[in-house]
Amino acid sequence: MITIEQAPALRGALNVPGDKSISHRSVMLGALAEGDTYVRGFLKGADCLATIDCFRKMGIGIEEKNGDTGHFSGVRKDEPILVIHGQGLHGLKEPETALLNAENSGTTVRLLSGILAGQPFVSRITGDSSLQKRPMGRIIRPLEQMGIRVTSDQGNDCVPLKIYGGRPSAIRYESKIASAQVKSCVLFAGLYADEPTFYTEPSLSRNHTELMLSAFGANLKVRRKTSSDAVTTILYPGTLLRPQNIAVPGDISSAAYFLAAGLIVPDARITLKNVGINETRDGIIRVIQAMGGRISVNNVRMEGCEPTADISVSSSALHGTVIGGSLIPTLIDEIPIIAILAACAEGQTVIRDAAELKVKETNRLEAISNGLGAMGISVTETEDGLIIRGGTLHGAEINPNGDHRMAMAFAIAGLVSETPVTITDEACVSVSYPNFFADLDRLR
Ligand code: S3P
Repeated sequence: MITIEQAPALRGALNVPGDKSISHRSVMLGALAEGDTYVRGFLKGADCLATIDCFRKMGIGIEEKNGDTGHFSGVRKDEPILVIHGQGLHGLKEPETALLNAENSGTTVRLLSGILAGQPFVSRITGDSSLQKRPMGRIIRPLEQMGIRVTSDQGNDCVPLKIYGGRPSAIRYESKIASAQVKSCVLFAGLYADEPTFYTEPSLSRNHTELMLSAFGANLKVRRKTSSDAVTTILYPGTLLRPQNIAVPGDISSAAYFLAAGLIVPDARITLKNVGINETRDGIIRVIQAMGGRISVNNVRMEGCEPTADISVSSSALHGTVIGGSLIPTLIDEIPIIAILAACAEGQTVIRDAAELKVKETNRLEAISNGLGAMGISVTETEDGLIIRGGTLHGAEINPNGDHRMAMAFAIAGLVSETPVTITDEACVSVSYPNFFADLDRLR
């Protein structure tokens, strides 16, 4: 339980932890590459540690070295570098402990399932009570079309899953949802196919898998339609993956909490350094601009294959906006904190096309609506989104129900609430941002 008091001012600069999506993928592709991959800025959050644990169980050596390994420039003496001893596409071993555990991590189970589909053994994978409720039919169906048998113990398309690995056949798959997890699962399975795999999504979801696969030497093409937002990714199998040195940028989804804090606290100026601004992730910046927020993106540069920048914000008078369509996948994890911005803005904010939020770590549409409602804000939950009317926030006790993003979003709301906000179960922030509350204190 933690209590967050109002903050009249916030000042300073922060390096937020490494990008969660990129960290997961660095371990997965590092394990499948022919040799050692070095990773700087790896996120040591619970989700990514679950991914490491699964690969260790399949015989992949993964160790942390301290200081300069000679693979990156300007490394501090105490900086951890993760080394993944890749064994090639066919080097994973059947796990001795029967069950792999993805814990709370949808990314681990969905991406890993694509890799397990190509292994010459049967795998079992499970997760915590939240993950056991999340839909896996979205990966089971395409894997079945690739000829891979996947069963769920409860017969409900949820984990625990049993994946009968083998030789996936290539498919042309049209996904109804823009999901990077589904896309990555199919592309990873496609690495083990004989023919090219075609994956079409209604609009571009985060493309870290595609960028990283290309960097590791996979043969991949992306085709954008001119008549719609649809994007097709084509993976040509048959190339070996070459190990890489990966510098993971700061996670824009973690930076988002402090971007919001810097906008809504009355006397604030905050800089977030070294933040990934990939165009498939930068929707939060565009929304802040649309709401009249004072934000500047500076020192834009490339960290490997990912664009990175320093982002500064300062106290702003915000107004409501409309968020929907192809913008949604670019800010899908930021909607809880955008809802807090909306509560602090003048007028109404409409969020639509966001039904996916119902199947995240919690039903986030319901959780945001309940939480903001408890704080005195008028919110209407619609079928695929929220309508939030800006107002005055009052203190409340918020139970994030184990959802890291709900805990952090409502902690930020506490900075501008008339009376304190209490977050129960605040330890769940360790999923993506273990030092969140310490970083918040540093800005006070
Ligand atoms: C992720 C994709 C998104 C996102 C999740 C991480 C990824 O999920 O919400 O936090 O790393 O691929 P969906 O693919 O289900 O949209």
